[in-house]
Amino acid sequence: MMRRVGTPQSGILALGTASHAYLEFDLRDAGAGPELVSAVAGLREPRTTMGGVNLVAGFRPALWRFVVPDDAPNAEGFDRDLVGTDGFVMPATQHDAVLWLSGSAYDVIFDTARGAIGELGRFASVAEDTSSWPYRHDLDLTAFIDGTENPTLIDAPDSVLIPDGRPGAGGTILLLQKWSHDAAAWEALSAEQQEHVIGRTKRDSVELEDRPADSHVVRTDQERFGKIFRRNMPYGSVTDHGTMFVGFSAEQGRLTSMLESMAGLKDGVRDALTLYTKPLTGAYYFVPSRNALRARIGSPV
Ligand code: HEM
Repeated sequence: MMRRVGTPQSGILALGTASHAYLEFDLRDAGAGPELVSAVAGLREPRTTMGGVNLVAGFRPALWRFVVPDDAPNAEGFDRDLVGTDGFVMPATQHDAVLWLSGSAYDVIFDTARGAIGELGRFASVAEDTSSWPYRHDLDLTAFIDGTENPTLIDAPDSVLIPDGRPGAGGTILLLQKWSHDAAAWEALSAEQQEHVIGRTKRDSVELEDRPADSHVVRTDQERFGKIFRRNMPYGSVTDHGTMFVGFSAEQGRLTSMLESMAGLKDGVRDALTLYTKPLTGAYYFVPSRNALRARIGSPV
């Protein structure tokens, strides 16, 4: 078996965690990128038998390229709004770095997140802070099962990780996009109408035989665009909530093509799900391998 030279950050594939926080950071001083990368690389994940925390760290692709030019993948930030049909807009809200913390309970996430913000505070400030939690095991807040067509954990590394021998090997591209749900409009639909929007049955997530062209699963069909691995989570409060879309891919093009397809830019057909959900943020991050990250500890320049 081929040994992977670049080992992925393990939290990407750590399923089953009940509590999540996504922190996006902006540099205080545009020149402090190397110091920020070094400080992020030096963050420790607490590992206790009572409840560890998975920590996944990523960087604005251009920032990583500036700091580690010879091991940077072919990727760009979400630097311009994506304007679809009928004036539909996916806003670009790129930041410099992201931390995704996940674990068994919110108290450890809360403490670890606050500790990390403190450690990075000299170089960067928090721009976005979202807490997430699973809804009825594996539903998103449309009450459909989310993740059915994800690759299995055996196959996911092949879909997600940049192969050995390429710049950024063992790393992955993350699309992080926060989607607000219009719960009232969604719940005004019958279950059958909702199934036509998603393209799968509501109770057990079976693909419809006659999937409408504007259904979400046709707009994002992985047979067409390539495989990605989604770790989506519900976020928000009782009155203001939605889906934190967390999608990983070895190639950024798969993610951007899916977004363009959802926005109606491929063939004029817009994803019906976008009539009931609205993207509030959008950013791409390069999530380097553990080795690449570890090499930056204590080496700001
Ligand atoms: C409000 C935001 C979103 C919600 C609630 C949502 C929900 C869902 C649901 C319920 C499914 C069907 C079950 C499954 O296979 O997981 C699905 C499939 C999928 N979604 Fe989303 N999704 C959202 C946004 C996105 C975005 C932004 C992308 C891509 C950038 C995306 C990519 C996919 C893919 C690739 C599939 C599987 C398609 C296939 O059958 O090959 N989703 N999503």
